[in-house]
Amino acid sequence: MKIKILFMAFAAALLGAACTATLIKQERKAAPEGGYTLEEVAKHASETDCWMIINGKTYDVSGFVAKHPGGRMILNGCGKDATELFMKRPDGPKTPHPFWAKLKARSFNIGRAATPEK
Ligand code: HEM
Repeated sequence: MKIKILFMAFAAALLGAACTATLIKQERKAAPEGGYTLEEVAKHASETDCWMIINGKTYDVSGFVAKHPGGRMILNGCGKDATELFMKRPDGPKTPHPFWAKLKARSFNIGRAATPEK
């Protein structure tokens, strides 16, 4: 009986993971062919709806703004190409974000940017 329950839980977890992966893929697919333009990104410039371009990629960080370890500073990048801000953190330590911040950013990537990589 226990094994049956364990198996069912495992199958449910697998199904959940597969569905999530499909949803993420669909989100990526929805990105425009040539990448997101600055004009499109600029429509998402608020605390609750914040997109930014970093190094030729577009990120939707809306759910991360409140969790950002650098606090509200991240808001300066909303709706913009924030490559400079991300790489230089001029109002903070004046150094690039560490590699693990770049890893974290990957989970918010929603597609390419139409602007070339800097
Ligand atoms: C995808 C977007 C971003 C992600 C994933 C991200 C992530 C992070 C992470 C993980 C840290 C902690 C790193 C550490 O302890 O050294 C951090 C710190 C910081 N971030 Fe960001 N960040 C993003 C965008 C931005 C933007 C656009 C700005 C500036 C406008 C910014 C400014 C800062 C500053 C100033 C700190 C340092 C805070 C301190 O040490 O007191 N971040 N960020």
